[in-house]
Order: sequence, then C-alpha cells, then structure tokens
Amino acid sequence: MIVIHDPKVLQQTALELRAQGKKIALVPTMGNLHAGHASLMDIARPLADVLIVSVFVNPTQFGPNEDYDKYPRTLEADKQVCEAHGVNIVFAPANESIYFPDASTFVNEHACSQGLCGRSRPIHFRGVCTVVNLLFNLAQPNVAVFGQKDAQQVAVLKRMVRDLHIPVEMVVGPIVRESDGLALSSRNQYLTARERAAAPQINAELQALADLAKTESDSKVLAKHFMDALGQDAVFEPEYIEIVNNSTMLPADKIEAGNTLVAVAVRMTESRTRLIDNIVL
Ligand code: PAF
Repeated sequence: MIVIHDPKVLQQTALELRAQGKKIALVPTMGNLHAGHASLMDIARPLADVLIVSVFVNPTQFGPNEDYDKYPRTLEADKQVCEAHGVNIVFAPANESIYFPDASTFVNEHACSQGLCGRSRPIHFRGVCTVVNLLFNLAQPNVAVFGQKDAQQVAVLKRMVRDLHIPVEMVVGPIVRESDGLALSSRNQYLTARERAAAPQINAELQALADLAKTESDSKVLAKHFMDALGQDAVFEPEYIEIVNNSTMLPADKIEAGNTLVAVAVRMTESRTRLIDNIVL
C-alpha cells in the first residue's frame, strides 16, 4: 500500500494505471475510519484491480458553525484500516493542495439536494459534489462506493453523475450498525454517555415506523408517530423526518415499497451532535 499526498501524483499514477488497462475503485472518505468505511472497502475490493481510498476532511461541505475544526483526524490509524482491507493507494491530500486560494468553480445539484439535510445545511451538497467531482478527476475511478447511511448524498451524487455524464459506476453499501442498532458514524464519539445510551432509539423508532407502514400508508401519520415517540425523551431534538422517493428525495405522500425512504436528522441536546439515519420501506 502506498500513501500519496500530492494530487498531481495521484492523477498521474491513476492515468498510467488506466492506460495499462487496470480497473480502479475509489472509496471517498473523510477519514476516522470505522467498520462502516471498512465495509465499503470490502465491497469495492473485488470490483477493481486497484483500490484507492481518499482521506480528506473537505472544508467546503461544512457550514460556518459546523464541526470542521473538531472533526477527528486520525490518519495513522486510518492507514492501518486501509492496509487490513486490501487498499492499494491511500490519498491523503493537504487542504491547500486540493483547493486553489482563489478557486471559483463549484458543482451544484439543484433538485435532490434541496430538502432534508439541504434545508439546514445550505452549502453542504455543493461542497460534496465539488469535492467528489474533483476526486473523480484525480483518481480516475471506474467505480466508486458510497454508504447508504448518507442516503441523500447518494441521491445527489447519482444525479450529478447522470447529469454530467461522468463515466463512473456508482455502488452503494448498506448501513453498518452497532449491535444495539445505532448507525456507525464518526460523530458518535461526540455523544455524552446519556446520549449514547438513548441513541439506538432512533433506529428502533425507524423500525417501528417500517412495521406500521405495513398497515398505514399515510406519510403524515407515520411521521407524526416517529416524532411523538422520540419527543418523549428530552435528549432528542428531532430536526426532520421526511418520507421521500429514494431517487429524487421529493416527498412521497404514499408508500411505494422499495422506492420510499424515511430519512431522519436528530440533534442530541447535551452535546448538540447531529445524527442522521434512514430506512427504505
Ligand atoms: O461521505 C463522506 O464522508 C463525504 O461526504 C465525502 C463523500 C467523502 C465527500 O467529502
């Protein structure tokens, strides 16, 4: 496994590999790798000759009052995870080498990114689309693997790839959970003990909603049920629950099995950590 910091070196290496007929898979990450990221590497590994993992805390996807500064940076441990999962190249660029000081080009997706997290994080998906585009240009992947945990990100990026005719196959890995059901996230480590103990209820209530959806198809009734259940514990401040079409992220009034996504964002009141989770009905 090699570690590349310089974007030009990565691009040159990737172009040479592609010229030799090698297939490249990319798993873009912001580091602080956990079993969820490792599962994406395991999905990507058999799909290509060369597996690249990028580790880059992307400043342009964080709003002014978000956790960019405190986001955990653990490159040495990340390299070990990559090594153990058959990664060939870790790309860990410095911020200054990715963005020119006067960079003035961004990629905007204007439909799937509007609701859900896009409402409270207005520049988030612009940053995600821009950096993923940039990473695609540098790593030249045939295939890229993303996690279903960020369901809206998946929808936005799939739309970007379609709209811009980007020749990258998009593969999505399932959500990986702790044994108590909490979806794995680098942000779980911000939780207080009380919040950590309560947090699995988010997934439990999503499961309960999925059960209820077998007999109740009105989205408003289902959403209210979730809000009422979570609202009973003061540690949760639900930001949104939205029942949407899985591809467009537009509201779904009625449940359409396999195509309807329930996505939630919950602010934990002690640490102010924002957790997201989702389930496909
Ligand atoms: O999902 C993430 O970790 C990030 O949004 C991504 C795709 C690596 C872009 O910075």
